[in-house]
Amino acid sequence: MGLRQEQLGGHMAAAVTGLDLNDQLDEPTQATLIEALHTNLVLCIRGQSLAPVPFRNAMARFGTPMLRKQLAQTTECAEVNIISSEDRDELGDGRKLVNGASWHTDDSFMRAPCSLTMLYGVVVPSSGGDTQFINMYAAYDDLPAETRARIDKLKVVHKYESSRRTGRVAKRPKAEMAAMPEAIHPLVRTHPETGRKALYLNPNRMEQVAGLDRVESDKLLDALIAHAIQPKYQYRHVWQQGDVVIWDNRCTMHKANADYPAGERRLMHRVIVAGTEPF
Ligand code: OGA
Ligand code: MN
Repeated sequence: MGLRQEQLGGHMAAAVTGLDLNDQLDEPTQATLIEALHTNLVLCIRGQSLAPVPFRNAMARFGTPMLRKQLAQTTECAEVNIISSEDRDELGDGRKLVNGASWHTDDSFMRAPCSLTMLYGVVVPSSGGDTQFINMYAAYDDLPAETRARIDKLKVVHKYESSRRTGRVAKRPKAEMAAMPEAIHPLVRTHPETGRKALYLNPNRMEQVAGLDRVESDKLLDALIAHAIQPKYQYRHVWQQGDVVIWDNRCTMHKANADYPAGERRLMHRVIVAGTEPF
């Protein structure tokens, strides 16, 4: 079976079929996947059947896997986390918690956020549970030239529990919170691999634009968010069991949907990898 690629969302997202990530891919095939990810921002590799260790090893060809102790880890491999319909806010109110239910980019509250996130659909509901994405290159490119010039050099403080947040976030132990002090990131990021500029927003984690007063900062961030989340910049991924979806957090936002039928399960295995940028 040869490798086949198809476009999914028109302006972003592609799917490939005809490869097994349990195999050691040859260099040209791996280079094709990385190129497809850079061009399409979201890459779906269909039809996989992967135990945690082979999943981690396949993803390690895209970057260095990072440990994420805040999420449940598989017993087979600590670098493979579990995102599940059974997730609860264990230390908080104990209620069901949907990780990533509002627009975000992963890890922006950290000083060195992961570059890529990989989700593997182990159990996919019969309908719903889609993951939505936004093309943040396109959102940036479409801004008026004056806005781009105004924001190009600005930086934003990001925090785990920002005062602007609208979504619920899982309660964390005090020691963990202390180890996650605020981080400051550019509002416009230049992608280290593609050289393209992207808006770097995280509505739930951004606290304030450095150097602007609170009112001005809120006004700017609200306007940029409203611009970026327009449907024309979005792609909605409808999961098939066995999909491995890789996205680039440096030039996308994404959002989970908990709209699948009550009583149905959704189980994802997750790996994140570090970028090559110095932080
Ligand atoms: C994540 C995430 C979305 C989903 O794993 O970072 O936001 O649809 N997941 O599960
Ligand atoms: Mn996420």
